[in-house]
Amino acid sequence: MSSHAIRIFGDPVLRTPADVVTELDGRLARLADDMFDTMYDANGLGLAAPQIGVRKRFFVYDHGDGPEVLVNPVLEEGDGEWVYEEGCLSVPGLSWEITRPKTVHVVGFDLDGNEVSIEADELVARLFQHELDHLNGVLLVDHLDDEQRRDAMRVIREMGMGRSQKPSSTAGGLSLP
Ligand code: NI
Repeated sequence: MSSHAIRIFGDPVLRTPADVVTELDGRLARLADDMFDTMYDANGLGLAAPQIGVRKRFFVYDHGDGPEVLVNPVLEEGDGEWVYEEGCLSVPGLSWEITRPKTVHVVGFDLDGNEVSIEADELVARLFQHELDHLNGVLLVDHLDDEQRRDAMRVIREMGMGRSQKPSSTAGGLSLP
């Protein structure tokens, strides 16, 4: 297993909808292992494949019950409203209060091809919605209103993010307060 550089805001891969996973093979399992390493190194709760430059529809997560992988996840329904200060490993150091459905029903597959159906609430529901967004090329700033978004983009640029980067670029040179 090895940790990967997490792609940072401005990298086009984060804006590209990911492709459906068609092969549940050893390569995918190894990628998932690498994503766990990367996620734990970054103290994240979840990590989607595009965040390490892989345009495939799967994400890894661990909200305290151990490592889990969700392949080809689909949001079946959401209900209620919940406000949460939400951050993203691809926009390090920033977070915004964002309102989303409080509960969700997500279906997908595990690495063995078993169907998974999960009813999630609050933080776990938020985690799923956030990672699903990544698979669709959607980022946190897309959930802000126009004024918040303008402010967010200014701060993001001031922090050296948001410029178009070469796909091979990493966060290695980025300095954060
Ligand atoms: Ni994120």
